[in-house]
Amino acid sequence: GYSLKVLEERIKQDGVVLPGNVLKVNQFLNHQIDPQLMYEIGQEFERLFKDEAVTKILTVEASGIAPAIMAGLVMDVPVVFARKKKPSTLDSDVYAAEVYSYTKKVTNTISVDQKFLSETDRVLVIDDFLANGQAVLGLLEICRQASAHIVGAGVVVEKSFQDGAKLIKERGVRLESLARIASFEDDKVHFVGE
Ligand code: G4P
Ligand code: NA
Ligand code: NA
Repeated sequence: GYSLKVLEERIKQDGVVLPGNVLKVNQFLNHQIDPQLMYEIGQEFERLFKDEAVTKILTVEASGIAPAIMAGLVMDVPVVFARKKKPSTLDSDVYAAEVYSYTKKVTNTISVDQKFLSETDRVLVIDDFLANGQAVLGLLEICRQASAHIVGAGVVVEKSFQDGAKLIKERGVRLESLARIASFEDDKVHFVGE
């Protein structure tokens, strides 16, 4: 399978495996951010989806924004991030989806103002992590409400031993993951195909 070597190497070097099958990547993705690496990630998404005439990138705050904005820069399209704050009754013109986090055991309503997505859009969904897939599925649901065309989903790190990848592909959505983790056996990161 495909993978972005520089990303895998960075994960091996700076990623920390925590209890509960969680990979901490605060050194370059989730807290401190490495812009050069994010730029290379953006270039890779552009390479993968360049024939799809993408008009918009859709992600969810907070940590999806860094890779998404670099993809938007390289592809020269706007980036929209879904908000997690529950929309007030005053702004009713939103597309919204419920996202349950198995990791955090909370449900968030994510929402996007209707003026930023429409049926003429060809949307690339981007996120930092794909675990159980609930965040990406919520973004796909928002695209459905907008009648936008979904060209696919691009994620930086896929935990292939969880259900998310399967759930997205079952919906007929193209999925491109730049690093695919098979397991955290012995507290080490093992990539698919290693
Ligand atoms: P899911 O969306 O794939 O179902 O994931 P899940 O509910 O399990 O994860 C909840 C949050 O934790 C998500 O971020 C997700 O990106 C992140 N996450 C899942 N697994 C890992 C992991 O192994 N390492 C890291 N660093 N993050 C992981 P979020 O709640 O949307 O928060 P935010 O950081 O984007 O604001
Ligand atoms: Na996150
Ligand atoms: Na995220």
